[in-house]
Amino acid sequence: MSCNRREFLSVAATLGLAPGLAAGSESMLRKPIPKSGERLPVIGLGTYSVFDVDSSPGEIATRKDIVERLVGAGGSLLDTSPMYNRSERVIGDVISAGVDRKDLFLATKVWIDGQKAGADQMQRSAELMKTKVVDLMQVHNLRDTRLHMETIREWQADGRIRYSGLTHYTAGAHAALMREMKEYRPDFIQINYSLGEREAENAVLPLAGELGIAVLINRPFQAGRLFRAVGGKPLPDFAKEFADSWGQFFLKFIVSHPAVTCAIPATSKPHHMADNLGAGFGNMPGPAMRRRMAEHFLSL
Ligand SMILES: NC(=O)c1ccc[n+]([C@@H]2O[C@H](COP(=O)([O-])OP(=O)(O)OC[C@H]3O[C@@H](n4cnc5c(N)ncnc54)[C@H](OP(=O)(O)O)[C@@H]3O)[C@@H](O)[C@H]2O)c1
Repeated sequence: MSCNRREFLSVAATLGLAPGLAAGSESMLRKPIPKSGERLPVIGLGTYSVFDVDSSPGEIATRKDIVERLVGAGGSLLDTSPMYNRSERVIGDVISAGVDRKDLFLATKVWIDGQKAGADQMQRSAELMKTKVVDLMQVHNLRDTRLHMETIREWQADGRIRYSGLTHYTAGAHAALMREMKEYRPDFIQINYSLGEREAENAVLPLAGELGIAVLINRPFQAGRLFRAVGGKPLPDFAKEFADSWGQFFLKFIVSHPAVTCAIPATSKPHHMADNLGAGFGNMPGPAMRRRMAEHFLSL
């Protein structure tokens, strides 16, 4: 280790930053998917509502710009669902407009009752997104999990789906989610976790770590509520070592949790995508700094 690097890590430690994560500032931080070891970039993109647009050239050009910024910064994960109306089709349009499918990690969901209806919906999702293989197929809000997990497992064996997952978005469902994590052992879960909703820290995130399940985080800004909660106040001085904006402050709190694999903030704006991507770079808060961030947020 060079002297400069040692000094840098010592300063990082003094500031409460995580030394292991402080070093890799040139490329986006990646974390391993426990099942495979494949390393996933920590910032992805949610598409609920923001990709539910018509396929006009202007709307597709904006979504393409957003996805190109994601890929250009080393990101890859897009999260969608048949529940998000036109979003899967718009992802297909963005791929047709020139984004390379190979640069993307496509995560969608099955959200319907019944095995045949579920298989038909999964097939339709792949067609809309113009892909033969779906990287991650998640059971949306634990709807008919047993039947859909059977299909997902069969399709994984056939190479049509790479990873399985279960999702929910409320703390009230965490107990049910944990029961199903133990029963079905999915490759991924997706849950709500942010500075405004920290319940997942109590049991879901530790259980995911124990069972070796990758974790995607939805509602990282509580659907935008976190920005309203800080109400135009400036970032605290102590955060300036690792965040240039509130968006990065909120996202770094999430992705620095050891059990979290990737956060999926949604945005309709290319400049917000660029801002969010900044959270995948540079210093990451360690445990002491994470406590300070949470205390500061509560004091606002
Ligand atoms: N059950 C489930 O499986 C489930 C449930 C909920 C969510 N999800 C997934 O998780 C994703 C994220 O959750 P979410 O869509 O509920 O909300 P979110 O990501 O917590 O918040 C999105 C909001 O934040 C704003 N925003 C984004 N970046 C910003 C920035 N840098 N500065 C200021 N504002 C910013 C967006 O507005 P702009 O458009 O103006 O940027 C949008 O209003 C969803 O899109 C979906 O893919 C899954």
